[in-house]
Amino acid sequence: MSETTTATTDVEEKHDLTVVRDVVAKYRGARGSIIPVLQTVQTHFGYLPMEAVELISKSMRLPMAQLLGVASFYAQFRLTPRGKYMVKICCGTACHVKGAQRMVERALETLDVEAGETTADKVFTIERVACIGACSLAPVITVNDDATGYLDVDKFAGIIDDLKKSEKTGDGE
Ligand code: FES
Repeated sequence: MSETTTATTDVEEKHDLTVVRDVVAKYRGARGSIIPVLQTVQTHFGYLPMEAVELISKSMRLPMAQLLGVASFYAQFRLTPRGKYMVKICCGTACHVKGAQRMVERALETLDVEAGETTADKVFTIERVACIGACSLAPVITVNDDATGYLDVDKFAGIIDDLKKSEKTGDGE
């Protein structure tokens, strides 16, 4: 049985889904409401929990496949929780030319994750992204939206190490 067919059965709540009920009620009957509903839910949880998507599906009478299709199509949506540190490595042309791919490889190797995934301890999420509009600083990364440029693999690895250490010492709180 596919994920989409099981998803329309009763929703088991691991999260408080009040925000979902509220936003669905707010947009009930409105055209073009899928994106703002998903945005509101993601802003609340930091990602789109599957039971929230299931409740939206049930309440708005929309197929799960349609909601998951929208959530997968737009880069702004995440279906998995993000880590405490969202590390985005720009892989646009200017950053690529200046070694962004080597930083990606170092991050994935050091943290033992795949691109787009979150470490098991939920501390880091590593993502490759397209040009973030700071090409003159290439190669550039952002950590929770703070940009750092003129990096190389060693400087980048140093940033990751510092964040790991601050987690261990509790300074990252
Ligand atoms: S290519 Fe990386 S900021 Fe533009």
